Amino acid sequence: MKVLMLNGSMHPNGTTFAALTEIGRELEQEGISYEIFQMGGDAVRDCIGCGQCSEKGCVFDDDRVNEFVAKAKEADGLIFGTPVYYAHPSGRILSFLDRVFYSSGRSFAYKPGAAVAVARRGGTSASLDVLNKYFGISQMPVVGSTYWNMAHGVNGLEALLDEEGMQTMRNVARNMAWMLKCFEAGREKGIALPQAERGKRTNFIR
Ligand SMILES: Cc1cc2nc3c(=O)[nH]c(=O)nc-3n(C[C@H](O)[C@H](O)[C@H](O)COP(=O)(O)O)c2cc1C
Repeated sequence: MKVLMLNGSMHPNGTTFAALTEIGRELEQEGISYEIFQMGGDAVRDCIGCGQCSEKGCVFDDDRVNEFVAKAKEADGLIFGTPVYYAHPSGRILSFLDRVFYSSGRSFAYKPGAAVAVARRGGTSASLDVLNKYFGISQMPVVGSTYWNMAHGVNGLEALLDEEGMQTMRNVARNMAWMLKCFEAGREKGIALPQAERGKRTNFIR
């Protein structure tokens, strides 16, 4: 089994990466492989709500959203990591994930998801609230830890000094691994996935 992680920072070796790497190391201890997908610093388009998403994904193909979607469809679990910018997730991860989920969110149903936020000091809770909403609307079980999934530091080295933060990362990894193994055992026992009822779209409340 494999977990795909998204580093929503443009710093490939920064705080977010340190937190995700701690998770990855623990996942490997549990026999689960992982990949950290680096968004890097390239321009990312916003979703323009054109509604033209197709089997091939988002119509824009000049950034890496569709590449990420292809990997996410193959993965068993997803983790989104973001630095905090003005008490919210990085603008780039939101632009990226809006397009990932608007084009392909249904493909991720029943895959466990975890959000991770890192900051120098404040805004992590608000950022986690935002990222967790992608999971909630997509039938993705949310993976928690022994604290909310956050770590603190201004760079990767400082983050490693946040012992509780790193412990929280290791525990989210263990919880993710446990959930993946339980789901696999359920599949082997023939437990069917729930059938979602669809069709009603009430756009206003009388
Ligand atoms: C534009 C910007 C806004 C930031 N806003 C906050 C903030 O609201 N709260 C905070 O604690 N840190 C804030 N920071 C600091 C980063 O969250 C922090 O340095 C983080 O560790 C960076 O992660 P990275 O190395 O993965 O990019 C901000 C940094 C930038 C560049």
